[in-house]
Amino acid sequence: MKIGVLSGGGDAPGINAVIRAVVRKGIRNYGYEMIGIKDGWWGLVEGSFMSLDLEAISGLLPRGGSILGTSRTNPFKREGGPQKVLDNVKKNGIDAVVVIGGDDTLGVAHKMGELGLPCVGVPKTIDNDLGLTDYTFGFQTAVHIACEAIDRLHTTAEAHHRVMILEVMGRYTGWIALEAGIAGGADVVLIPEKPFDINEVCQYIEQRLERGKAFSLVVVAEGAKPKGAKNIVYGTGSDEFGNPRLGGVGYYVGKEIERCTGIETRVVVLGHLQRGGSPTAFDRVLATRYGIAAIDSVHKGQFGQMVALKGNKIVSVSLKDVIGKRKAVNLELYEIAKVFSG
Ligand code: F6P
Repeated sequence: MKIGVLSGGGDAPGINAVIRAVVRKGIRNYGYEMIGIKDGWWGLVEGSFMSLDLEAISGLLPRGGSILGTSRTNPFKREGGPQKVLDNVKKNGIDAVVVIGGDDTLGVAHKMGELGLPCVGVPKTIDNDLGLTDYTFGFQTAVHIACEAIDRLHTTAEAHHRVMILEVMGRYTGWIALEAGIAGGADVVLIPEKPFDINEVCQYIEQRLERGKAFSLVVVAEGAKPKGAKNIVYGTGSDEFGNPRLGGVGYYVGKEIERCTGIETRVVVLGHLQRGGSPTAFDRVLATRYGIAAIDSVHKGQFGQMVALKGNKIVSVSLKDVIGKRKAVNLELYEIAKVFSG
């Protein structure tokens, strides 16, 4: 059998660890021929491939990014896109595809599955917002980086008696902001699931000042918004899946806090530093487990499925049940954060 592998959407630390596991077990245990599909679904629309033998996966475990490249190409938004995918699959003798992606990329896998392309999904996104899995790989690394940033901002905030704002990723959900905020002891955590009142934020920071705390640390997810307002976007465009390019809410929050409290405020946008570089040990192990489970699913003929983490077990869930059902933050965690923040 010949098995293709692709990674689509925003990259996440651990993609290469998944590829390594899929290819190694595919070749060594099942005797499959493996082929890399370049730049997500774009590679199948355009017919762009690379060799994925044992040599190609050597040294991949700690490497960030994706050796296959990635893109936000949506074949269903391109003229004849789905048919081009099917034609290229046939022309290259591909029997099945392991698709590493988030909601958008896996949504295409589900639709292509209905058109006859056998796919197995692997849950990837630093946002951790895919349903039916406890964790997506890449998330824990992003939290670790954001937590380190909070620790560093804390010391300079305290020394200068300032408010520091850290804007983190999280388009539709506040997983990174919430977990990094708890881990880093943030004073305010703002997430997309809970629109905020800027006056309440300012009041909380003033109360801290009255208690002798002349500095504060605010973590805000890029998708957080004031009550009754729209998301703050960086530009007007959107990608082929209709996702807006967010960014700027940190500056809004920073300006408002400085205006109403009079405390000097600085803003840091963590951005793609959360996505680049080496995965944590947790994500390397999770990505490896996902990769092994994905190629096992291919071997068992379990298509239209996504591998997932439930408790400490790797399970297989239906792609149909995952797509379009965003996993909001755990409200228990939110309540924990509220004990320590305003
Ligand atoms: O992959 C999800 C994500 O990291 C979001 O948190 C963020 O809004 C988006 O990707 C940024 O994408 P891009 O790399 O295209 O700017």
